[in-house]
Amino acid sequence: MDRARVFGTRGRGFESCQPRHTHGDDGLEKMILYFEEPGPGNTDELLRAARARVDELRIRDVVVATTHGGTALKAKKTLGLGVNVVAVSIAEGFSMKPGWCMTGEERRKLTEAGIKVLTASHALGDGVGSAFAEKYGGKPAEEIVRETLYRFGQGMKVCVEVVLMAADAGMIAMDRDVMSIAGTSEGADTCIVVKPAYPRTFLDLEVREIVAKPRALT
Ligand SMILES: Cc1cc2nc3c(=O)[nH]c(=O)nc-3n(C[C@H](O)[C@H](O)[C@H](O)COP(=O)(O)O)c2cc1C
Repeated sequence: MDRARVFGTRGRGFESCQPRHTHGDDGLEKMILYFEEPGPGNTDELLRAARARVDELRIRDVVVATTHGGTALKAKKTLGLGVNVVAVSIAEGFSMKPGWCMTGEERRKLTEAGIKVLTASHALGDGVGSAFAEKYGGKPAEEIVRETLYRFGQGMKVCVEVVLMAADAGMIAMDRDVMSIAGTSEGADTCIVVKPAYPRTFLDLEVREIVAKPRALT
């Protein structure tokens, strides 16, 4: 059972808090870092919490949503050299929106830092199904999943989405848990531990642990 604790924007002690078994049952108490508000101001604290969970669970693959590379570079620095950081950017289908897609220079900086970069179709909407929905109405299953995950925050939807994308690109191991990090428009405010799956095996995906998320979503 997870014990939720609310921290302010300068939460203390999270990193040093070890999980502990509850008395009398098979539960395991762990901390969840709740940010009061969503947004990029939470990035540094989130990455410290992510590092603690990576060390505890010996996570080796961390998928990071990053529009211009900043969050992935910070993650690589904070999480240590032994971690496979996969940076997932916005799909080129959004190139008509100025400033949304990663530039060549931003991509180069990530590659030079030892980060794998993935740009591909978004797994939870924005594909062929969404094109039909936009023209003829209705909702593809991906968009229903997306809207459901948005109830946990923007970052929760993106965390699940980028794991599906990284899995389909063969960039993460599929036989062990991975970590996923994402945010609300910019930076990072959400972190989960996931048993990964491909889009075509989506129903096998398990969100195993919530490391951090914002409480208020807007
Ligand atoms: C594939 C993808 C989908 C995203 N979808 C959303 C979204 O639906 N809502 C949202 O607030 N942010 C979304 N983001 C933003 C990320 O969650 C994250 O905050 C951002 O990419 C970090 O970029 P930065 O490193 O340049 O700050 C998305 C990012 C990516 C790469």
